[in-house]
Amino acid sequence: MARQGTTRRDFGAAATGAAAATLLPGRAGGATGRRRYAIVGTGVRGIGMWGRPLVERYSDVLEFVGLCDVNPLRVEVAKKAIGVECPTFTSLDEMLARAKPDLLMVTTVDATHEACIVKALERGVEVLTEKPMVIDEAQCRSVLDAEKRAGRAIGVTFNYRFAPKHRKIKELLLAGEIGRVTSVDFSWYLDTSHGADYFRRWHRLRAKSGSLWVHKSSHHFDLVNWWLDAEPVEVSAFGALQQYGKRGAVRHTHCRPCPHKAGCAYHWDITKDPRLVSLYVDCEAADGYLRDGCVFKEDVDVPDTMNAIVRYSTGVTMSYSVNAFMPIEGYRLAFNGTEGRLEVRDFERQPWPVPEETEMHVVRNFAERKKIELPKAEGGHGGGDDVLRDLVFRSIDLPPYMRLPGSRAGALACLTGIAARKSMDSGQPVKIADLVAL
Ligand SMILES: NC(=O)c1ccc[n+]([C@@H]2O[C@H](COP(=O)([O-])OP(=O)(O)OC[C@H]3O[C@@H](n4cnc5c(N)ncnc54)[C@H](O)[C@@H]3O)[C@@H](O)[C@H]2O)c1
Repeated sequence: MARQGTTRRDFGAAATGAAAATLLPGRAGGATGRRRYAIVGTGVRGIGMWGRPLVERYSDVLEFVGLCDVNPLRVEVAKKAIGVECPTFTSLDEMLARAKPDLLMVTTVDATHEACIVKALERGVEVLTEKPMVIDEAQCRSVLDAEKRAGRAIGVTFNYRFAPKHRKIKELLLAGEIGRVTSVDFSWYLDTSHGADYFRRWHRLRAKSGSLWVHKSSHHFDLVNWWLDAEPVEVSAFGALQQYGKRGAVRHTHCRPCPHKAGCAYHWDITKDPRLVSLYVDCEAADGYLRDGCVFKEDVDVPDTMNAIVRYSTGVTMSYSVNAFMPIEGYRLAFNGTEGRLEVRDFERQPWPVPEETEMHVVRNFAERKKIELPKAEGGHGGGDDVLRDLVFRSIDLPPYMRLPGSRAGALACLTGIAARKSMDSGQPVKIADLVAL
């Protein structure tokens, strides 16, 4: 069973070619003996997942020694929201030099993860990064090389793996419930609220998010790699912008001053949420970032409608899709196997009542359909966020297949999305090995 020290060694074992790297077990920080912990990127994820809950639940094992954000106003708002007294910085170099963290959590805009990871590794600091690890193949190579040079492995916080329903899927497949898996059908639906929100924010720009193929789908691609215990080999994809961006009839810079708000179904009033006002609206003077950007801005350069076929190292194929302006939020997933089928329907949000959030069945060939009872999950991302934090900061008892993902998993998930983006652009299938030799 994975105790904390083991988990950290597993972290190392997962690294691509990195020397037997480790997150040093229990490396003490300062006089307190707690790990010296810092965050770079103090937006909602930094505060809500890796900030405030850590102060509340893990203060016995870590102490905050620094917070960094390029927006000097936001980092001060974050400091209050997290509830810490540590110094704040607008330069990561300065924070690493002065605050001397043992562990850095990277929760910046996706395109900047690589630079933060590499800087921390070069200073011998342990790194955890939010997904996606990187947004293109050059960044991917850079992170893997930095790990090797540092002899230290990073962790990638793929929280979706840790949701009890997703663990259940892993266990059913491991138990051979449907025989050998031959193909996967996976359709993810983002609704007119959550889906639209990607197009209001920096996620609408490839240069910042790598597109939803990378920002969003890397979650899904990681799940499938892990569920199948396989690696992606080749991707063919199509994508289009069907609803947002230039598809809109009218547009403005952002929702607050918009002259079209009365007639716009996508109008969103950020001023109704005081937390978002203080974190973004009140910090606009520093960087001009508009959190309530218009979903119909001409600069949207990522697709909202995506289809891909992925071929895996085991010969399994997956049909995958994302649609980002649906009346429903959730997913349909099926594993087709030599002895049956595992069917999952996840209902996150829809305009009708549902008896349970997730329905899961095993249907065996020439036999009956069996309902799979799921453990009740509470907390963010289907219960995954709490388990992930405990895995990183506590000695929790988890089987080996629940270890913290490392850079190889981070790379494979991103590269599947990067390959899909390239295939969409070129009209040609793209091989993962042609992007980065892992
Ligand atoms: N695992 C999950 O389920 C999950 C959920 C939400 C977000 N995320 C990830 O967390 C990260 C942050 O997302 P968010 O929603 O908090 O975004 P956000 O826009 O709220 O916050 C990002 C912050 O990073 C700052 N920043 C940008 N570049 C920087 C740099 N070079 N150095 C320092 N600060 C920088 C921005 O000013 C901003 O404050 C993203 O990578 C996102 O993919 C993961």
